[in-house]
Amino acid sequence: MPESFNLAEVAGALANTPFAGNLHHLASVDSTNALALEAAQAGAPHGSVWIADEQTAGRGRGGHTWLSTPGDGLYVSVLLRPQMTIANALWLSLATGLAAQEAISTVANIRPDIRWPNDLLIGNRKVGGILVETSTTPAQSTTPAMLRHAVIGVGLNLNHQSFPPELTSLATSLRQETGKIWPREPILTAFLRLLNQQIALLEEELTGIRSSSSLLERFSAASSWVCGRRVSVDESGGYTGVTNGLDERGFLLVTGDDGTTHTVLSGGVRAQ
Ligand code: BTN
Repeated sequence: MPESFNLAEVAGALANTPFAGNLHHLASVDSTNALALEAAQAGAPHGSVWIADEQTAGRGRGGHTWLSTPGDGLYVSVLLRPQMTIANALWLSLATGLAAQEAISTVANIRPDIRWPNDLLIGNRKVGGILVETSTTPAQSTTPAMLRHAVIGVGLNLNHQSFPPELTSLATSLRQETGKIWPREPILTAFLRLLNQQIALLEEELTGIRSSSSLLERFSAASSWVCGRRVSVDESGGYTGVTNGLDERGFLLVTGDDGTTHTVLSGGVRAQ
C-alpha cells in the first residue's frame, strides 16, 4: 500500500501559482501523460496537474515504459498552454530538468546531474526522467507553428528499494542513495514552484523582456554533459565524439571523432 497522498498540503503550499485549484490525485491510471493529453483536448486549463500513486502503462521517452510501482515514485503530469512556437518547445524540456534537479537538491540535499536533454542522474544511474508531449497548431503563411498545449510528464524514483534486474545498472532511487524514505508532497511542491519560476523566466526571455542569464546558460551550468563529455550517440546510424555546447535552439552539439559537428536531435546520448 502506498503512503496516502496529502493533496490538501500540496494545494496549500501552491497558493498563488497556476496549479492552485487545478490539482488531481488518482490512485491508479494507465499514464498521467495520456490522461493529461485527453484532458487538454477536452479543454482543461493551463496549470492542471495529475498525480498518480501508480501507473499501469507509464510512458518513457523513445517508446520505453516507465516503471511506476505503487507509491515508490512521483508520477506527475502538468498541462501548460504557453504562447510559444514549436521551435521553442525543447526549452520547456530543458527548463523542466532544471526545476526537477533543483527540487531534489533542495528537499533531499543531493544534486542530480542532468544528461541532455533531461535525464536526472545520480552517478551513472537514472533517478528521474521527463517526457514532454505537445500538440501544435499548423503554420500559416505569416505565423509559425505554435504550441497548442504541452504536457510535461515527470517520473522521479523516490522510494524504490530495488529495481528489476534489467534496470539495476540503469536506475536508482533517492532511498537507495540516501537510505531515507521520501514523502512525495514536499518534492512535488518544490518541483511545481520551481517549474513555475523556470517557465516564467523562459517566457520573459522569449519575449525579449529578460536580458540576464539565459536558459541556455542556466542549463549549461547545471549539466556536466553539455561540454567536454566523451559520448556515444544513438542517432544518425550512431557515432562517438565530445559534447561541445548547445546550439541557439537548445540542441546538443557533439564534435565527432572525424571532426565534424553533429547536432543531436532526439537524445540517446550515453557516456563512452
Ligand atoms: C524517460 O523515459 O526518461 C521519461 C519518463 C517519464 C515518466 C513520467 S511518469 C509521469 C508521466 N506519465 C507518463 O506516462 N510518463 C511520465
